[in-house]
Amino acid sequence: MASSRHFRVITTFIRPTTSSLRVQRSLVAHNARRFLSTTPALRDSRNFAPQTTIFRDVEPLRDFRRAALLNNRTIGLVPTMGALHEGHLSLVRQAAAENTDVFVTIYVNPTQFGLHEDLASYPKTWETDLRMLHTLDRELASVEGAGRVTAVFAPTTKTMYPTLPPDSSIPGVGSFIEMRPLGQLLEGASRPVFFRGVATVCMKLFNICQPERVYFGQKDIQQTVVIRRLVKDFHLPIDVKIVPTSREPDGLALSSRNVYLGTRRRTVGIVLNQALRKAEAQYKARNRTRGDILWPASDHADQTKMAQDALEPHERARFEVDYLSLADPETMEELDEVDPARGAILSGAVKMLPVEEGGPSEDLGVGGGQIPVMAIT
Ligand code: PAJ
Repeated sequence: MASSRHFRVITTFIRPTTSSLRVQRSLVAHNARRFLSTTPALRDSRNFAPQTTIFRDVEPLRDFRRAALLNNRTIGLVPTMGALHEGHLSLVRQAAAENTDVFVTIYVNPTQFGLHEDLASYPKTWETDLRMLHTLDRELASVEGAGRVTAVFAPTTKTMYPTLPPDSSIPGVGSFIEMRPLGQLLEGASRPVFFRGVATVCMKLFNICQPERVYFGQKDIQQTVVIRRLVKDFHLPIDVKIVPTSREPDGLALSSRNVYLGTRRRTVGIVLNQALRKAEAQYKARNRTRGDILWPASDHADQTKMAQDALEPHERARFEVDYLSLADPETMEELDEVDPARGAILSGAVKMLPVEEGGPSEDLGVGGGQIPVMAIT
């Protein structure tokens, strides 16, 4: 099992399958009424009026949602753990293009963090998050036909887990949703409670917000498969939308946890994306077997690892490959050969190990390159 002193960078992509503002509780109901006017949203950004209401509790949000339903409005839900970046905003943009209202949830869900993972140090940037959503809402206000960010739901843990304190231990006392074996494969193999926590909190968020559509990032590919399974197996009347990964120009996927990397680990961290691109190129060259597709990826990762290991401790960023996977798009079971009609998911994880020796003025990132963390996908 992976230790908590590792940083994990996940990069994933799907192979195409065929041919190819703080609001007091008492103000919430008032605001909800105000914002639920049937007047169409203003499209002149000079007259921009913020439309976002912040909800802490379930009942006012339910009232808001019910009123929206009566006004024939549609809800696109974007669940997040905050520390927002452009990747999150791309989900909000797509949700706004397809719904009248976007609900963004900001909640660092304790049950998806293992006992030794980085729950306590997970970045929290509430004020900046709100500013980003406000700026985006302003942008949306000027786009003809776009929906608006009308609700931010930021509940407490007592609200989300009303009966028991949330439990992150493997036996897990409490009410949980589990998908076996799906939730135990790949990411779930080294983070045994992760997908149980994700499925459970998403079920709660879906029940509370009752969205027509939910938006998830392709970056966390196994999470999207888990959510699709949740919707299918529990007959949820929800459309699951997957949004492409937003990346830095050099290919590194944006992630809230990138702040931990620092320059040295960040530079080497793109090894995973590079490796997966090599595997993708093999498929594009009409290779269909596991070995043919994955070997250049493993080879690239191995070469990069050897090159780093050979450097001095003050120069190197060491990492371990957790997995490189070529899996079925619905079960995440490993494939020996890809059926082009069905497609496959190529994904991987590397653990960036703590920096052994920092330079005098080196940017080691939040936590000085040492923060004990198992970042989530
Ligand atoms: P979080 O890591 O905050 O991510 C929220 C959503 O943003 C997820 O769907 C994730 O896949 C997406 N996302 C993150 N980085 C992205 C990027 N670079 N490009 C596109 N989308 C990106 O994932 C979670 O939170 C939690 O597990 C959650 C689903 C909220 C449940 O607690």
